[in-house]
Amino acid sequence: MFFSLSSFQSSEQATQADTTLQDTARASQQADSIEEPILEPDSAEKETQATDTAELAVESSFARGDYSTQQTRRGERLFNGLAPFESGLHDCASCHYTDAQEEINWNPSAWELAAVWQEDSAYSIMEIMNNPLTTKLMEDHAGMTITPEEQHLLEAYYTKVNEQGPDELPAYPVRTAIFWGMGLLMLLAIIDLLFTRKIRFKAVHVIVLFVGIAVHGQFAMAEAKALSRTQDYAPEQPIKFSHLIHAGENEIDCEYCHFTADYSLSANIPSNNVCMNCHTVIRSGTNSGSFEINKIHKAAETGNPVEWVRVHKLPDHSFFSHAQHVNAGKLDCAECHGEVETMHIVKQVEDLSMGWCLTCHRENEVDFLDNPYFGIYERLHEKIRNGEIDGVTAAELGGEDCMSCHY
Ligand code: HEC
Ligand code: HEC
Ligand code: HEC
Ligand code: HEC
Ligand code: HEC
Ligand code: HEC
Repeated sequence: MFFSLSSFQSSEQATQADTTLQDTARASQQADSIEEPILEPDSAEKETQATDTAELAVESSFARGDYSTQQTRRGERLFNGLAPFESGLHDCASCHYTDAQEEINWNPSAWELAAVWQEDSAYSIMEIMNNPLTTKLMEDHAGMTITPEEQHLLEAYYTKVNEQGPDELPAYPVRTAIFWGMGLLMLLAIIDLLFTRKIRFKAVHVIVLFVGIAVHGQFAMAEAKALSRTQDYAPEQPIKFSHLIHAGENEIDCEYCHFTADYSLSANIPSNNVCMNCHTVIRSGTNSGSFEINKIHKAAETGNPVEWVRVHKLPDHSFFSHAQHVNAGKLDCAECHGEVETMHIVKQVEDLSMGWCLTCHRENEVDFLDNPYFGIYERLHEKIRNGEIDGVTAAELGGEDCMSCHY
């Protein structure tokens, strides 16, 4: 393998006169590096004649279509760095991850690569690998060229990825073990109590059952809470949009994008046009290359809106107005959303419980005297003038009445 790798690389720099030599080297390399050839011996031969027609014939014999399970398996091994490509051993999965990620990972995931390929019948993995167009692709794919056969194997794997989606993250293995372990102990205690009667002291059964019920109860409570309250919720988004890069590093004002927060109940999520204001010109990003920004252009071409995943959501029975807080209350976004400009992925920092709303309404004085919005509260203004009170909280303005938050 080492020999064929170096012969391939040096042949890249070879002059035109060397083409025949180069092609022979390539063909022999192909012949000895593929363990389970799907190429017929004579079609491998064909590649030595580097005429256009021969190349076309080879490519069409690897046209998109049915892939055998063996091809899928081989494609998966190539992608995961368990088998070498002709140009060397490349672990695509070390960047193009195959499982759900907890932190931002700027590389395209395996399932995203697969989805983009499936959508476009003219898409060629080989073209992208062998003639990289962006700086990011040139850097990250340096030395990784692929053959038509390898493309076919990768496509076979892509097809599997498209059907299967990302590998699941293990869901709290320790908690799961405790849950089932405790369940088993409780079952044994009941069986022994009723039938086998091996343990003489009934106190043992009682303790096991007592602790078991407490543990299971605690799990049930935690699950029930997580159903309606989603503090720390930070879902993966269809485009890796980063507030840290936009609102933080590039200091774009929150209300440039979320402009309805000032006058409406809800804060809008910006439409694709807002992104295009800048990304018509900025075609690639430092971290993600052009892959993520291409999605903005794809949405502009097709007119299909980007389906952002909602992060904050109050239950339907409660009412909340951004304008009331941002415009009348003069609150900063950060008071309720935390330092969004430091987050790559938006996270819900507060629990959005009724207690949280009420605590702020009771404890914090509003900017009462300087805000013309509160001019109508004449009785309270008079009390301040007479020195009866020194400030007004939102609670005193009706922020504690059930009806102001519940219909
Ligand atoms: C360049 C446009 C842009 C700017 C500037 C921007 N945002 Fe966003 N914001 C978005 C997009 C797009 C989303 C939806 C995707 C996501 O959740 O990351 C979003 C989502 C959010 C969400 C979550 C919404 C939900 O689904 O519950 C909050 C909260 C938020 N932004 C607050 C802020 C704050 C605070 C600032 C200023 C520090 C800010 N944004 C600046 C574009 C922007
Ligand atoms: C007083 C607390 C508070 C302040 C201040 C606040 N938000 Fe929100 N924000 C919320 C709550 C609560 C929700 C969930 C609303 C719902 O589900 O109806 C929310 C939801 C959002 C959403 C999701 C869309 C929506 O309206 O449901 C965005 C985007 C957002 N806020 C952006 C902002 C921005 C930008 C600012 C500053 C200009 C801001 N918020 C100021 C509490 C606040
Ligand atoms: C006011 C200008 C502006 C707007 C509006 C804007 N962006 Fe950006 N965006 C930038 C700048 C500047 C960069 C940084 C480019 C770089 O890395 O050199 C960037 C980078 C990005 C990146 C790549 C990040 C990286 O480092 O790889 C993505 C993805 C992106 N933006 C998505 C969006 C989306 C989605 C929207 C609309 C919700 C949007 N942008 C709106 C200015 C903007
Ligand atoms: C060092 C990290 C890294 C490795 C290893 C890597 N890639 Fe990539 N790849 C990237 C990045 C980053 C991009 C997005 C760059 C861009 O679009 O500008 C990308 C983009 C691609 C694209 C183009 C997606 C599109 O539609 O625009 C394909 C196809 C691809 N990679 C295939 C592979 C294959 C096959 C391998 C293994 C032989 C591989 N990559 C190994 C980082 C890597
Ligand atoms: C960080 C402090 C803060 C938090 C948290 C907060 N509020 Fe407020 N709220 C205010 C301020 C300040 C006002 C402005 C006083 C006014 O307009 O009457 C206000 C006013 C209101 C009003 C108008 C009251 C009236 O009748 O005049 C409603 C309704 C309201 N908030 C609902 C909510 C809900 C629902 C939540 C929780 C999801 C919430 N608020 C969380 C500070 C907060
Ligand atoms: C400042 C706004 C606000 C006021 C005032 C308020 N609530 Fe709520 N309430 C909420 C929000 C937001 C929720 C949903 C969040 C949650 O589930 O904790 C809620 C939830 C509830 C629930 C459902 C509890 C649950 O756990 O699902 C009940 C019942 C309720 N409120 C009753 C009341 C009553 C009665 C009053 C008057 C004494 C009142 N609320 C005043 C904001 C308010």
